[in-house]
Amino acid sequence: MNYGPLLFLGILFTLASSWVGLVLMPNRQLGTLTPHVNATTSAIYPAARAGEAQQGAETYRSLGCIYCHSQQVRPEGFGGDIARGWGKRRTVSRDYLFDKPVQLGTSRTGPDLTNFGERNGAVDWNLKHLYNPQITSPGSIMPAYPFLFEKRRIGKNGASTNALALIAPFAPEAGYEIVPKMEALQLVEYLRSLKTSVDLPEASIKKTEGDAAAPDASATNAPTGAPAPAPAK
Ligand code: HEC
Repeated sequence: MNYGPLLFLGILFTLASSWVGLVLMPNRQLGTLTPHVNATTSAIYPAARAGEAQQGAETYRSLGCIYCHSQQVRPEGFGGDIARGWGKRRTVSRDYLFDKPVQLGTSRTGPDLTNFGERNGAVDWNLKHLYNPQITSPGSIMPAYPFLFEKRRIGKNGASTNALALIAPFAPEAGYEIVPKMEALQLVEYLRSLKTSVDLPEASIKKTEGDAAAPDASATNAPTGAPAPAPAK
């Protein structure tokens, strides 16, 4: 007996059903997703990243930050992400509308960064942390990224205004200064742009008033294990 036509139909059905399930259906569900416009304030969320932050996203990608940091907040009752202060609500596909590629991450050696911009947007803290995490977070296992900075001899006009304010043992030898390169500044802009505390129809922020079990937002929004951030220069 010739099984050819049957085999052909079987293969066609297998390919067609997976195309419907993996391409057509997701595209119908998410393909038309647009930013949310707040009816009262007309605020648009998410907004496309500014150029600096977008460049920083590329640096984040190229340095492999994703291997230790996720950017996805799980729903309440499914892990303690919200209780940890990693976000005020779960993340949904709309949050990633302007991310190309989406840098969800799977490993959490470090804290989730979904809402980091709201936790700690201090430029100065972030630059020091990237230069050497031990400055801001003693005992951290995050690698240092000193190559994002330039060690320069201090010129006769005095130290640069954007030089890091470092103290021993992290300060360079006398007569030298550490200045962030463009990549460092762009990366920090990207980190500062990570903000998701916006009410969406599909994922609203739970109100904490009168709810004793809910975490105190002000207590969990502080940077973990780090001193109070210094103001940005
Ligand atoms: C080997 C794992 C690892 C890698 C790679 C890594 N980190 Fe981290 N990161 C950590 C750990 C652990 C912490 C928590 C301790 C600390 O603050 O340093 C952390 C903390 C942070 C924080 C502060 C988070 C908070 O909630 O306070 C930021 C921001 C951050 N990392 C950004 C980055 C960026 C940007 C990169 C890539 C350039 C990167 N990390 C690469 C492990 C890592």
